[in-house]
Amino acid sequence: MTSNQDNLIFTWRCPSNIAFVKYWGKKSNQIPCNASLSMTLSSAYTEVRLELIKKVSISSDIELTYRFEGKENEKFEQRIIQYLDGLRNQFSLLNEYQIVFDSTNSFPHSAGIASSASAFGAIALALLDAEYQLTGKEIDNYFFEEASNLARLGSGSASRSIFGHYAAWGEAKEIEHSSNLYAIPVEKVHENFQNMRDAILIVDDQPKSVSSSVGHALMNEHPYAQQRFVQANERVGELIDILHSGDYDAFIRLVESEALTLHSMMMTSNDYYLLMKPNTLKVIEGIWEFRKQTNIPVCFTLDAGPNIHVIYPDYHHEAVRSFLEESFQNSIIDIIFDKIGKGPEKRENR
Ligand code: DP6
Repeated sequence: MTSNQDNLIFTWRCPSNIAFVKYWGKKSNQIPCNASLSMTLSSAYTEVRLELIKKVSISSDIELTYRFEGKENEKFEQRIIQYLDGLRNQFSLLNEYQIVFDSTNSFPHSAGIASSASAFGAIALALLDAEYQLTGKEIDNYFFEEASNLARLGSGSASRSIFGHYAAWGEAKEIEHSSNLYAIPVEKVHENFQNMRDAILIVDDQPKSVSSSVGHALMNEHPYAQQRFVQANERVGELIDILHSGDYDAFIRLVESEALTLHSMMMTSNDYYLLMKPNTLKVIEGIWEFRKQTNIPVCFTLDAGPNIHVIYPDYHHEAVRSFLEESFQNSIIDIIFDKIGKGPEKRENR
């Protein structure tokens, strides 16, 4: 923070995350219909620099500039204005300061990495840091719980990016201390799962035919929704046990079934749709064959899109990397190698 209270700067870096049990379906005010669990990434992050400039006179209008990679981005600016509007009662700084966000991603926009998770994570952290600074509060554990809640209001999956390693979000009787309002870190993870990797295979970099917001909304009238929500809550409980026990086989079965269940929900909603591409299936079958031949505990998951996240322990990195590069050279556009990460980081202000 700079010392002059008329002009303050807060910079945070927040990573993206990949869900192993998927959040799919929500109620009003960003309350999830089921619990979810993800691994926080390391190299794929958004960095947000928040500059607060004292307004000439206090006004209830939100004065916002949002630049993404140096350019004003009107579409995202509208989403942020709406977001900040909902926070006005909680943050008096929104009445007192002009807000300037400068945001950059470490990964290409088309990479199929959840950029709203890292972006809203970083925005929430910077805003809350500013509020804490202006009200003389110290950053403690409660800060991260509050930041997770704020991030959730921007994008549900962002709630989980506030914590490193593994995080669970959504209230379920299967998960101790769980909440719909914020994510919680998953503790006491077995060493087998402490150094996992995620290789993201880009099979298609075009905008999706159906957005995640539409997909969430289609769960409202989905014929299998209630059963799915029960299943997801149970699976988060099971996955926490697996992360404690170190059982790779159980992990693989659960994670792959989750990915296919998410896409089954899309294929059986009204309207139905399909986000996987022929090369998505080609890669999945290739991974199954490779696993059968090598016994390496490698599996796949999918987000709401056609790209494949290949998940495996770090000590098999060389073998998996050569396999992916050699086998899918002609079927994919790019591979982004990432791994489990420690969570957000406050940066030196510039
Ligand atoms: C398939 O978090 O993008 O990636 O709350 O509307 O911003 P909003 O949705 P979003 O949905 C993520 C869906 C998912 C699964 C997951 O990350 O859990």
